[in-house]
Amino acid sequence: MSFDRTLPYNDLPLLPPQGVDLESKAILKQIVSTSRALAELKGAGDLIPNQSVLLTTLGLQEAKYSSEIENIVTTNDELYRAFADEGRFQDPATKEVLHYNQALWVGFEAVRAQLPLTTNLFEQLARTIKPSVSGVRKLPGTVIANSRREVIYTPPEGESVIRDKLANLEQFLYAQDDLDPLVKMTIMHYQFEAIHPFTDGNGRTGRILNILYLIESSLLDIPVLYLSRYIIENKNDYYLGLRRVTEEGAWEDWILYMLRAVEQTALATHSKVTAIRGVMHEVGEKVKAELPSIYRKELIELLFRQPYCKISFVTEAGMSTRQTASNYLKQLERIGVLRGFKRGTEWYYINIPFFELLTS
Ligand SMILES: Nc1ncnc2c1ncn2[C@@H]1O[C@H](COP(=O)(O)OP(=O)(O)OP(=O)(O)O)[C@@H](O)[C@H]1O
Ligand SMILES: [Mg+2]
Repeated sequence: MSFDRTLPYNDLPLLPPQGVDLESKAILKQIVSTSRALAELKGAGDLIPNQSVLLTTLGLQEAKYSSEIENIVTTNDELYRAFADEGRFQDPATKEVLHYNQALWVGFEAVRAQLPLTTNLFEQLARTIKPSVSGVRKLPGTVIANSRREVIYTPPEGESVIRDKLANLEQFLYAQDDLDPLVKMTIMHYQFEAIHPFTDGNGRTGRILNILYLIESSLLDIPVLYLSRYIIENKNDYYLGLRRVTEEGAWEDWILYMLRAVEQTALATHSKVTAIRGVMHEVGEKVKAELPSIYRKELIELLFRQPYCKISFVTEAGMSTRQTASNYLKQLERIGVLRGFKRGTEWYYINIPFFELLTS
């Protein structure tokens, strides 16, 4: 069995990887520190009063980074504003980022409903990310090329070949063995990318699957650990790592790379969660002190559900009439918590400390 980067790699070996020590000393050691970082993050997430705060904002940041790997660039400003507008008035890049965000939710709902990760779900995620993708590839012609347009890898071809390899991947995920789920996640990610089941959106679908698998394995309760930022900052290592598994069977380096990605990301997310909690508390105290007549816990939470607020959010949350809502937001602007600006006919109020924290 030989590998030729220009020919469909229908010989891609099935899982589990053969002839490699998946529990080497280095891997076991890394599992310990990665697991510790994850456990601390899991604990910190529980302390946020309203978890939808975390889910929405961290999810949107992930959508942005993950899409940037594909060079789909939107600004935080565009993104959060488009989100506040529920996707009306958006440029194509922002639209694609919102599709990714939607796919994250589709996946999370599936895991919450205790549905396993299957080819069906993979297809559903890919379709949500890229409406042009109908399902598993049927036609030949998909290749991975570098920026000089040289072919680096040609994934397997033929729908049944692809479906068989995906079925093997599913079996591997749910096999009763004693492999650590973290290690399984890293192997799944390589294999999914190597199968490359779709014409596009494989990277993003694969990155969503990582998070879903961590939740399914109870290493996380809610989707707050997003690897895309780490990957984009270490993009060359990421691509090289994938290649080296195919070309040299370099599994150990790949597994270590991904485990470190999870560890670093868990630590960074933990700090962010702590910081969000801090800012929420500060804003709450400030409003309590300076605007006691309008202070309500629900109002503060609303201001942190996403960094832009509109009058309609306040009225739709059943907190007040339009007139009063508008007055609330103006008062919050006066004490420096929000800053209002008009786009078109609509007023937006940006939560300044929160926005700065999210985008730093
Ligand atoms: N040599 C390789 N072998 C296997 N998979 C690879 C290789 N190089 C890159 N990949 C994977 O292919 C993905 C890109 O594929 P595709 O364009 O279908 O996905 P995408 O989600 O649109 O892109 P992106 O991941 O860049 O956002 C990369 O993210 C990576 O996961
Ligand atoms: Mg692509």
